[in-house]
Amino acid sequence: MKNKKIGLIGILAIGLVTSCKMQQAGDLVKQNFDFASEQLTYALQEIESAKANDDRDSLSKAEKPLVSPRTLDENGKLKLVVSRDWTSGFFPGELWYMYEYTKDPKWEEQARAFTANLEVQKYTKSTHDLGFMMYCSFGNGLRLTNDESYKPILLEAANSLISRYKPNARIIRSWDHNRDKWQCPVIIDNMMNLELLFWATKESGDSTYYNIAVNHANTTIKNHFREDYGTYHVVDYDTITGEVLNRHTHQGYAHESTWARGEAWALYGYTMCYRETKDNTYLDQAHHIADFIFSHPNLPLDLIPYWDFNAPEIPNEPRDVSAAAIIASALYELSTFGGEKAAQYKEQADTIVHNLTLQYRATLNEDGGFLLLHSTGSKPSKSEVDVPLVYADYYFLEALLRKKKNE
Ligand code: GLY
Repeated sequence: MKNKKIGLIGILAIGLVTSCKMQQAGDLVKQNFDFASEQLTYALQEIESAKANDDRDSLSKAEKPLVSPRTLDENGKLKLVVSRDWTSGFFPGELWYMYEYTKDPKWEEQARAFTANLEVQKYTKSTHDLGFMMYCSFGNGLRLTNDESYKPILLEAANSLISRYKPNARIIRSWDHNRDKWQCPVIIDNMMNLELLFWATKESGDSTYYNIAVNHANTTIKNHFREDYGTYHVVDYDTITGEVLNRHTHQGYAHESTWARGEAWALYGYTMCYRETKDNTYLDQAHHIADFIFSHPNLPLDLIPYWDFNAPEIPNEPRDVSAAAIIASALYELSTFGGEKAAQYKEQADTIVHNLTLQYRATLNEDGGFLLLHSTGSKPSKSEVDVPLVYADYYFLEALLRKKKNE
């Protein structure tokens, strides 16, 4: 009888703890979206005032208007970008995520306005960043509203992106700059742009986009990873022979180091590729990348990476909150594909979200309206070190939405 009683109390206690945990987890999503609602309202005011204070000449202002926030400059001033900037789609994307969570039409109205500013970029063929720019903005808009007018814009953007495909090397060229250094540079970040191509095949029925995406993902598995699944940042190709000419870094510490955000893009990219293709090669790759991250001796206990896993002065190096937010969002998705590590991935993502909320969040009505502090853009160029970055906020909101969906 006594044992039975203890058993019953035990079960009740476990039930209570579980429901408390879930309550807390639910609150974390709500608490962050409540914060984001106020903070992004403040951001909208800050953006208006930064636009009003644009001191460029009138031709630049007319031809290349400032459209979206990116970061704070060295004086703490809000830095806006033109639509051609690789980060221009993240703020519209955040507004779409606000609409997704709140269903409040005021966010849809703002999201539509900020998204519309980017339409001109659908013809851009001088960068691989079309996925970031157009899929985070128009792609989320289409998903949430089914607005037919967004489809031709996204298809045009997909056409621009595949214009950079090099069939002999079976990759999409990333950058056009530094031509003296690289013939055809491909950066690991480019995995993220493939989502637009998978969508384009589903929408158009033309398998060209899908095939290019899969070829790019396969070539990247072959050439971009070390034996331990740490990734190189830049791989340079000969476009005639397809041969790898060199493996470099641009934003990491060294050619042979692992730049934290690069590893995060890789995890997210292969998780997304598995979702779109159901090819187990991509799922295995994502598992290996997650293993690299979470078994790395330089990953801090709070799971917010330093800007490079091999940065020389660890622990006295800046963190990269953007990498953490991308990893958390990817892990929530990876955990939905099952397998023995599914629960562990969810727990790791929960820990990241929890720590970002408690230790790395911006101050309400300050910090330019950003949500998170302590990201690193490019330490080697001494650019955007230990600052808020718009893409950290975008993937943070996405992680929170995925967390809510998973519960
Ligand atoms: N895609 C550029 C970066 O991650 O900094």
